[in-house]
Amino acid sequence: MLRIGVLVSGGGTNLQAVIDSVNSGFIKAEIATVVSSKNGARALERAKLAGIDTVCICKKDYKNQYDFEDALISNFKHHGVELIILAGFTVVLSEKFINVYRNRIINVHPSLIPSFCGAGYYGLKVHEAVLSRGVKVTGATVHFVNEETDGGPIILQKAVYVEDDDTPETLQKRVMKEAEWIILPKAVKLFCEDRLVIENNIVRVNL
Ligand code: GRF
Repeated sequence: MLRIGVLVSGGGTNLQAVIDSVNSGFIKAEIATVVSSKNGARALERAKLAGIDTVCICKKDYKNQYDFEDALISNFKHHGVELIILAGFTVVLSEKFINVYRNRIINVHPSLIPSFCGAGYYGLKVHEAVLSRGVKVTGATVHFVNEETDGGPIILQKAVYVEDDDTPETLQKRVMKEAEWIILPKAVKLFCEDRLVIENNIVRVNL
């Protein structure tokens, strides 16, 4: 069975969606390790409750980005990880790390890429920007990670309507519930079934 490593920094609701999908048999894989970049992240509790091995690897405890990433890589190698999910992971990964796991790192972003993405667009800031621009449809994207922030090949997207009385907080919750928690497990399932083919930065899904 394919072994998954998940990188988290916060609440872990996307991690929970993947845990639930593994437990229900929707995803046929095993979550081998959950790594948090922050001590005390709620995501760690969720992983522990599910009986998954957890570790906290904080960037500030390392001399530089490379040493930090070496610690991540050695943990993933130790656990035989073949797919890495960034589920609300707030540290940007370098080219060196990405090269080790090329086309095997998946991220979930809370907008319809290429809108409201890239440097500076994270967390509530994404939804604040959506509301300030007045777009009527937003959503979420799951994509492979490459060197460009939020610029890797797109796997799945799902649209969510913006309501007139939305606040950044209400919109964030709805985008999670109606889009992120649905398309992230679906994308992971497709990867695990070897149904994703990347050609010229475009993902084709094999039926
Ligand atoms: C989600 O909105 C995700 O799209 C973004 O960070 C947030 C993480 O939330 N990358 P959670 O930790 O999964 O609850």
